Amino acid sequence: MRKTQVKIPELPVHIALFMDGNGRWANQRGLPRSAGHRAGATAIKKLVEDCDAIGLRYLTAYAFSTENWKRPENEIKNLMNLIREFLDNTDDASKDSNVRIKFIGFRNRLSKDIVEKIEKTEERTRDKTGLTFVVALDYGARAEITDAAKKLAEECVKGNIAPEEITEEKVSSYLFTSEIPDPDLIIRSSGEKRMSNYLLWQCSYSELWFSDVLWPDFKLKHLLHAVKDYNGRIRRFGGVRK
Ligand code: IPE
Ligand code: IPE
Ligand code: MG
Repeated sequence: MRKTQVKIPELPVHIALFMDGNGRWANQRGLPRSAGHRAGATAIKKLVEDCDAIGLRYLTAYAFSTENWKRPENEIKNLMNLIREFLDNTDDASKDSNVRIKFIGFRNRLSKDIVEKIEKTEERTRDKTGLTFVVALDYGARAEITDAAKKLAEECVKGNIAPEEITEEKVSSYLFTSEIPDPDLIIRSSGEKRMSNYLLWQCSYSELWFSDVLWPDFKLKHLLHAVKDYNGRIRRFGGVRK
């Protein structure tokens, strides 16, 4: 991306994306769903580069939900192979890139080699100072919150904390996103208008933007369009407008 070509509006700190519509994109072209997922992977790779170039601090992308295990085995295999490829490519490109990569979600159902690649990638990019790119993989908000509740209950039973000490901050610290600020803006592609178990705790005061563009066609210009609209909104957080 050449910076001179696009006028960059003021940016929120954290944008979270749903990468949705790969299947329909492929269907419209008479291609298998796997072709849609591949095109979707290319789209996110480019968007991450562009978001880093414009100075965005945090970008989270929903890559695979806890409910996506319901999909046909072949499609799951295909998606996991794309994750492998992404991790390998990041490895090759890491010298030239200033992007910090983090994964949120459960790891116990992922293949061992993928978990190893994730750990290596997080470790290798930990001190990068550009965009933090957060990949939500085997992520589900209800399971995340349930898990936090279980861990807090265990701490109470052990006598390490008292129930009165369970504050919102405490709960947040038990979530996958403990070191990530809540998203300011959430964008869902493909025309669907639902949360699909994404960041349900963290989205309490996020602004929402729905785009009809199918994920593989989603580009920086679409994200900036959403940001411009976001910049015109008044976030009250339950208070009154000053
Ligand atoms: C998003 O595209 C990718 C994942 C959910 C993994 P979809 O595969 O959901 O595409 P549609 O919604 O069927 O078009
Ligand atoms: C949400 O999309 C998950 C991802 C984008 C990875 P889905 O396509 O799985 O959501 P539903 O099933 O349409 O709600
Ligand atoms: Mg979908």
